[in-house]
Amino acid sequence: MSARAFLTGGASGIGRAIATMLVSEGYRVAISARAHDRAATAAGEIGAELGLACDVRSPESVRDAVNCLLESFGGLDLLVNNAGVAEFFNVDKTSEAVWAAMIDTNLSGTFRVTKACLPSLLDGGGMVINVLSTAARTAFPGSSAYVASKFGQLGFAESLRAEYRDRGLRVVNILPGAVDTPIWDNIEGDWDRSKMLRPKDVAEVARTALRAPAATLVEEIRLGPAGGAL
Ligand SMILES: NC(=O)c1ccc[n+]([C@@H]2O[C@H](COP(=O)([O-])OP(=O)(O)OC[C@H]3O[C@@H](n4cnc5c(N)ncnc54)[C@H](OP(=O)(O)O)[C@@H]3O)[C@@H](O)[C@H]2O)c1
Repeated sequence: MSARAFLTGGASGIGRAIATMLVSEGYRVAISARAHDRAATAAGEIGAELGLACDVRSPESVRDAVNCLLESFGGLDLLVNNAGVAEFFNVDKTSEAVWAAMIDTNLSGTFRVTKACLPSLLDGGGMVINVLSTAARTAFPGSSAYVASKFGQLGFAESLRAEYRDRGLRVVNILPGAVDTPIWDNIEGDWDRSKMLRPKDVAEVARTALRAPAATLVEEIRLGPAGGAL
């Protein structure tokens, strides 16, 4: 029986590249986006089996998406927590709305989706891959809300591993540097996107973690452009 994967934010960028890699590895793949049409269209384009509506900021939306996923797949072997948002401001320019969006999406969204999927993942020694960021270990100026959300996600992910590794749960954290995706479209600044990683680069290190021998666990991968950080 094929392994079953669920990936949040799979219609674009890094998520779409990881979902495409999982299809090529023979997984049955479900991806989500906030809008059902967007998820369904992207799923069709990359050969994923399911496209689900899921807003990770809404507990009800997460519950409905995971219920629908489990009804279709009958279980889950791999969760990829990828959905995220980024906006960059110094602290004095960070509004309540920007702070809330970053923490609620990146950090609380990861908690909600993971908790909803956990019973199924524990059924068969499942895996969680978290798409974090170098900003999960290193603070940069002008991005306090993003950095706080990513440090928080890392803390949550490490707690998850510590709590459930003896029940067979495998937690892999990927910390990429800048990747050329639509997330940069609305971020002000003179970014040289040609020097960034490509989404496929992140998908390939995820593939390496998946293929690691069963007796080993790739716990954390930091990936940057060979030419150095931007
Ligand atoms: N690009 C980088 O430089 C970089 C570097 C390190 C880490 N990351 C991380 O990589 C992840 C993916 O980002 P990306 O760069 O690939 O950007 P992206 O193409 O903009 O993808 C972000 C995804 O998150 C989803 N999303 C946003 N808010 C959501 C919500 N409330 N509920 C559900 N889904 C939501 C979006 O779904 P919709 O389809 O609904 O819009 C979208 O598919 C993020 O966690 C980001 O922090 C990015």
